[in-house]
Amino acid sequence: MTIQTLHNATAQWRASDLSHHLHPFTDTKSLAEKGGSRIITKAHGVWLEDSEGNKILDAMAGLWCVNVGYGRRELADAAQRQMLELPYYNTFFNTATPPAIELAHKLVALTPEGLNHVFFGCTGSDANDTIVRLVRHYWNLAGQPDKKTFISRDKAYHGSTVAAASLSGMSAMHAQADLPLPGFEHIMAPYWYDEGGDLEPEAFGLHAAQALEDKILELGPDTVAAFIGEPIQGAGAVIIPPASYWPEIQRICRKYDVLVIADEVICGFGRTGHWFASEAFAIQPDLMPMAKGLTSGYLPLSALMVGDRVAELLIGEGGEFQHGYTYSGHPVACAVALENIRILEDEKLIEQVRDDTGPYLERALRQALDDHPMVGEIRMLGLIGAIELVEDRTARTHFEPIGEVGVTCRDHCVANGLVMRSIRDCMVFSPPLTLSRGEIDLLVERIRHCIDLTAQDLGVL
Ligand SMILES: Cc1ncc(COP(=O)(O)O)c(C=O)c1O
Repeated sequence: MTIQTLHNATAQWRASDLSHHLHPFTDTKSLAEKGGSRIITKAHGVWLEDSEGNKILDAMAGLWCVNVGYGRRELADAAQRQMLELPYYNTFFNTATPPAIELAHKLVALTPEGLNHVFFGCTGSDANDTIVRLVRHYWNLAGQPDKKTFISRDKAYHGSTVAAASLSGMSAMHAQADLPLPGFEHIMAPYWYDEGGDLEPEAFGLHAAQALEDKILELGPDTVAAFIGEPIQGAGAVIIPPASYWPEIQRICRKYDVLVIADEVICGFGRTGHWFASEAFAIQPDLMPMAKGLTSGYLPLSALMVGDRVAELLIGEGGEFQHGYTYSGHPVACAVALENIRILEDEKLIEQVRDDTGPYLERALRQALDDHPMVGEIRMLGLIGAIELVEDRTARTHFEPIGEVGVTCRDHCVANGLVMRSIRDCMVFSPPLTLSRGEIDLLVERIRHCIDLTAQDLGVL
């Protein structure tokens, strides 16, 4: 296609998109003012291509999900084989399909001990909705019907359905929809960089966990059903808790008989250099929702791991669980998940992230940015991380209004062939786990360049 044809096609797509398509988490009016969407047409490996032929390094793996990279023929073949064999059948009413059975078996083998049952859905949000239904049912069965309240954290993201948004700690989402619903409470996040003050990180970790005990005592332990947390808060701007945090959270939960839920929707399937971040933080969850990297985003699928304590009561005394989705255990999505897991295993991608590319990226970023006047902190684990852009590195203060500098930097990234996400003034990355050393060098070079351009705009450099 000639450049002119590409421009024409892009202009038509943009106009049509603006006329009919309401995008998620988008201000449609301002999108129109900016001329419309960037249209992504192709992808391979860690590279996206837009409708004008620009190649873009995707340092976000889509939305934290394309763990094995784009363009995997094996995944397409697995989907095609399953579609021709059995494109759909449900798992309601005493039926099952081989891929769902096989995937449940595989997930039990991969996940932390004690998680021996799986409930399938399509998205991280619906897995968290399932949790609300299941946990309330559980406490009714356990003869403690007052234990119904969920405790979550500020800046948490657990999805966008009504229940999942209530679990989330995003004030802008709450404000638009009169959320959270009753029965959903929030405590501070273990965000040392912003809220740690003079405390050392480990002392701050204990302080942030203490907020859970305070909240449980305020509400009354007999009313609290569960605590939910992402091992690392992704959409909160990759908040990595101090090592003291999760052990203390779990001690408090056990003390007051509160279920522990580790939301692994972003962290699972190798993102942190472990199969699950629960391994890195020694979390022993009662429930563990997963999605995204489960299929590397090639098809929608979620899996909620259910621990023995909950499963035994549910199965033993629960009767029919009045909950499910048409696509629970969708055979094509499950077949793709199995193939995706095979790739992660055979190519040793998780070991590669843990032992090679994760540490290599961290070293390269520190070398390139540690002395940068606008970089307050680089935090990462495996291939997920954030760079805090700040006004004053010593006082750990941000530019006002917070978020503008992040958007400026993000726009420079877009203009320079790089997808990074800005959350407040944090530049966040979560690339495909296939990212090579050569691609890391290029990524770091582009990041440094875009932060320099941002600094020049502000007169800092
Ligand atoms: C930790 C976490 N949980 C749940 C969700 C919701 O997943 P979905 O968008 O598939 O509904 C997300 C999405 O980003 C997430 O980051």
